[in-house]
Amino acid sequence: MTPLHLPTLTRRTLLAGMAGIAAASILPAKRGLAGALPVRDFALRAAPGRFRLLPAPNGQTPVWSFNATVPGPEIRVRQGERLRISVENGLDEETTVHWHGVRTPNAMDGVPHLTQPPIAPGETFLYEFDAVDAGTFWYHPHQRSFEQVGRGLYGPLIVEEAEPLRVDREVTWVIDDWRLGDDAAITNDFGGRHDMMHGGRVGNTVTINGRVPDSFAVRKGERIRLRLINAANARIFALDFTDHEPVVVALDGQPVTPHRPADGRVVLGPAMRVDLVLDLAGPVGSRAAVVDRFYEGLEYRLIELAYGDQPLRDGPPDWPLDLPANPLAEPDVALATRHTVTFTGGMMGQMVMEDMARGMAGGGSGGGMMGGMRSMMGMMHGKGIWFVNGVAAEGPMLDPMLTLERGRSHVLAMTNATAWPHPIHLHGHSFRVISRDGEPTTHREWQDTVLMAPRETVEIALVADNPGDWMFHCHILEHQMSGMMGVIRVA
Ligand code: C2O
Ligand code: CU
Repeated sequence: MTPLHLPTLTRRTLLAGMAGIAAASILPAKRGLAGALPVRDFALRAAPGRFRLLPAPNGQTPVWSFNATVPGPEIRVRQGERLRISVENGLDEETTVHWHGVRTPNAMDGVPHLTQPPIAPGETFLYEFDAVDAGTFWYHPHQRSFEQVGRGLYGPLIVEEAEPLRVDREVTWVIDDWRLGDDAAITNDFGGRHDMMHGGRVGNTVTINGRVPDSFAVRKGERIRLRLINAANARIFALDFTDHEPVVVALDGQPVTPHRPADGRVVLGPAMRVDLVLDLAGPVGSRAAVVDRFYEGLEYRLIELAYGDQPLRDGPPDWPLDLPANPLAEPDVALATRHTVTFTGGMMGQMVMEDMARGMAGGGSGGGMMGGMRSMMGMMHGKGIWFVNGVAAEGPMLDPMLTLERGRSHVLAMTNATAWPHPIHLHGHSFRVISRDGEPTTHREWQDTVLMAPRETVEIALVADNPGDWMFHCHILEHQMSGMMGVIRVA
């Protein structure tokens, strides 16, 4: 991997970039018919353009983006409002938009061929759905996403609670990772076999809100709600706020019991979101680094918190940290139908499967879940590199790998029998993560994308209450394209 290059930016450039996002084209609210939910109209246009990711004297970067900005405009509504979003395709190829984490009706989910015909170049598609859950979401194409997202097509979608958390300031950081050449251009090696077989297309330049960051101005005593969104194709982040102790209040948009992150690291696999409450408790005039420590030996400083000279207050405020729950149906784990999902393939995958099969032969827990491992080795089929229950998805996958009876509770017992981490995403639902390697999770967190470590088993539980055919895939986009996806039908 080429070393990260993180050129220094002046604070003014950085702030100008962030202001640009706040001012992006947000149209005013419109009232619906009498008594109906207010309808909010937005317009997105996907098109090629140029954008300044790196500071001068570097050149601008040719990108594909929504409304000529990276990220695309922040779509922000109140919970309970209806969104109506027209998406115009100004690219030379087909596209769609998926509203990641939003529980939309199936026809609005933005998956080409499965839920809609792709939007042809020059055409427009109108998406319309209600913001049922408050939280931090994002949008991105689902057509050839390894390249379309990788070239800059994505944006934040924020649904505010009726009573938002009390903070001094709310900030969204959309974090991305790019593979740039010396000319500041994105290298054209999308869909490379090496990236597919390994950890995906990890880049050499990390941006926050479309800029290589330098510092973020804060004030002593300030409380910030920081909404983090990982829009990278493949890079996983483990953010260490060094002298600061952020509190996690939501994961993937869904409230969680406020807690300090394990090991002091805020971990975000691709597509995951974390809402933090950050109390700025450092001294006036000081600077504190935010360090990404996910890849051992490749730690780097993502950004610095830069304290101004004027404190806002002396100590942290004692405002509550709890977010109101969203209207999610609670799965009944005791009565749930159980399903097993095994992920295999990739570099060193054969070795991991053999190890795991050996380990299981020696008895121990999870024998049922693991029992098929040996037969899995013989039955893997498809041209791809990655397999879900023995199948490597090819082309548009339309036949469901699993059917979940509608209205019932289901547990998916998932095993990552590979040597790589995978952020596994289910469309149309949020699920509770109930156990990891047989141990119940502390927070039973709701997620829509769960990061599985190599050889890890994870159980998730959900009520299948959103009918339709839903994508289920790894959100390392090079893994998705090389087989690691399937369709789960709720009927
Ligand atoms: Cu964020 Cu299937 O996608
Ligand atoms: Cu993966």
